This record gives sequence, C-alpha cells and structure tokens, in this order.
Amino acid sequence: MRYLVTGGCGFIGSHLVDALIERGDEVVVLDDLSSGRLQNLNKRASLLPGSVLDPALVRRGVRDIQACIHLAAIASVTRSAEDWVGSHNVNQTGLIAVLDALRQAKLSVPVVYASSAAVYGDQRHVPIAETASPMPLSAYGADKLCCEVQARTAARSCGLPSLGLRFFNVYGPRQDPASPYSGVISIFARSLLEGLPLTIFGDGLQTRDFVFVGDVVACVLAAVGKASLKADVLNVCTGTATTVAQLAAAVMSAGRASVPVMYREARAGDIRHSVGSPFRAVAELGRENRTPLDVGLGRTLGWL
Ligand code: UD1
Repeated sequence: MRYLVTGGCGFIGSHLVDALIERGDEVVVLDDLSSGRLQNLNKRASLLPGSVLDPALVRRGVRDIQACIHLAAIASVTRSAEDWVGSHNVNQTGLIAVLDALRQAKLSVPVVYASSAAVYGDQRHVPIAETASPMPLSAYGADKLCCEVQARTAARSCGLPSLGLRFFNVYGPRQDPASPYSGVISIFARSLLEGLPLTIFGDGLQTRDFVFVGDVVACVLAAVGKASLKADVLNVCTGTATTVAQLAAAVMSAGRASVPVMYREARAGDIRHSVGSPFRAVAELGRENRTPLDVGLGRTLGWL
C-alpha cells in the first residue's frame, strides 16, 4: 500500500515509517523538519519537504495513496501558549489541509490522525475513558479537540473515513532530550547519563500514563483498518499510573546509576492525574500496549 505520513521525520512518525517500510509498504513523508530530523528518516521513504499548510505540496502528497497518517504538529502545550496562532495553524489547519486535499482528489482513503490526552484537561476520575467530557486546559488541547470535530464533519460531509488517536505520554528513542518542550522521560534520561540532578516539579505525586513508542506505532498500524465514517477516537495509553517520583527512581534503576533529585515549584497549569482507560482501544484494535516501563526506559537510555 502507498501511505502518506505527515510528520514522518518526527519522533513517532519516523518509527512508524520504519515499520511500514519493514512490512513492504510504500511511504511518502511530508515534513517541514521544524522538529523532525532528516537522520531519523528511513532511506527508502520519499520525502516531500515542506509544510502541511502548503496546499500544492499536500495535493502532491496525497496523490495515489491508499491511506493517510497525519502526525505533523507542534506537539507542545507550552509552545501553544507562547504562539497561539502559529500553533493553531499547524495543529488544526494542518489537519483540515490534509482532509481538503483528499476531498479535492476525491479519495476516500482511511485517515488516522494524532489527537492527544490534552483534550481531557484535568478530569476528576481516572482512568479516563473516551466518553469523558473533554475540557482542554491549553490551546494545544483545544486544537486537538477541534481536529476531532473537523474529522467527524469530514466523515459526514465528504465521506472521509477516519480514526483519531488520543496519545498519552509517549516516550522512547528519538524523543529529542534537547528540546525545551520534550517529555519528562527524555529529560530525566539525559540528565542521568550526564550525571546531573533530576528536577521534579511539584511534589512528584502527579501521575502520568507512559506509553512506549513501539506500542504507539502498533496502535497506529492497527488503526488504519479501523478508520470509518463514525470518525471515532481511541485512547493510546496503558492504564497504568506512574508518579513522577516513581519515574525518577525507575530511570535511575534502568540506568544503574544514581543522581540527586531536586524538587522545584510545580509548573503552572500542570495536570494532576492523567491516566487513560485502554479498554475501548484494546477491543477495537485487538492489541494491548504491553511494553513494561523498565523495558522501555532501558531502550530509551540505550539510544541516548
Ligand atoms: C504531555 C505531553 C503533551 C500532551 C499532554 C496531554 C509531552 C512532552 N507532552 O504533557 O504533548 O498534550 O501530556 O495532557 O509528552 N516534569 C518534571 N520534571 C521535568 C519535566 C517534567 O517533574 O524535568 C513533570 C511535569 O511537571 C509533569 C510530568 O513531569 O507533571 C510530565 O511532564 P511532560 O513530560 O512535560 O508531559 P505533560 O505535561 O504530561
């Protein structure tokens, strides 16, 4: 099959492209290399360098494809606060541009796109099921929620089948530890390898649902066959809560090293508990996200 993968040079996208090529699919990647890296890109993929906001380029990207996986985004809550309009353009208009190119090409191929746990905001009850009322606390979460609305509308109005995946805290090799917007695992892993202290924001008892990138890729692949005119959404999570303090200990244990842990003031707007219910996704996609945290941490540290 021929796939378009937007954001295919990024952290999740590049692993996905490897998996598609490994099983014999043909892959066109559209990426502006703003956070993605050329060195991450599989040599057998073809690259269309540029933005999802360039309609002519997206039209070229969708040519003759059988499925589309849209991951291109500015995947940062902090950035969305600093640059509301710029983030919005990429994060919401980017999906619209892909849907519009498919509509114009009269291609009703499955579209799998990245949504986020950020759509939920701070929920009272965890684990959070897809039926919870979304209450985003950030412009990033709001854009991802609007993407879900746009995808549902495209299903009804243009007959475009889709499935949105609400990613929880994804981690693994190729997540850039140098970026100020990076995830806590890559930051902790790099600090440990450099012998620097780990900084915990707040009391360290906030919880997250850390899901390994290899499992995320398997979910995306399974999701392609499940895209439909229901334009549904599924959590991509493990259902396991890990506190940030437990994570710090787990990173040190995986790296067989020890560094001091420092506590700092909590981040403004930090979500207290973010843990997803995996049950609907397990039933729909027929697979579980099984990589244990210690195994995933070992692979992440091994890559750095
Ligand atoms: C994450 C995602 C975001 C997603 C959101 C959904 C990442 C990088 N961000 O944000 O894209 O939309 O979930 O809710 O995956 N922390 C420390 N020390 C550090 C860094 C972080 O204690 O050095 C803490 C944070 O305060 C937070 C937790 O670790 O409580 C996780 O932080 P982070 O990895 O940045 O992710 P989220 O804030 O959950």
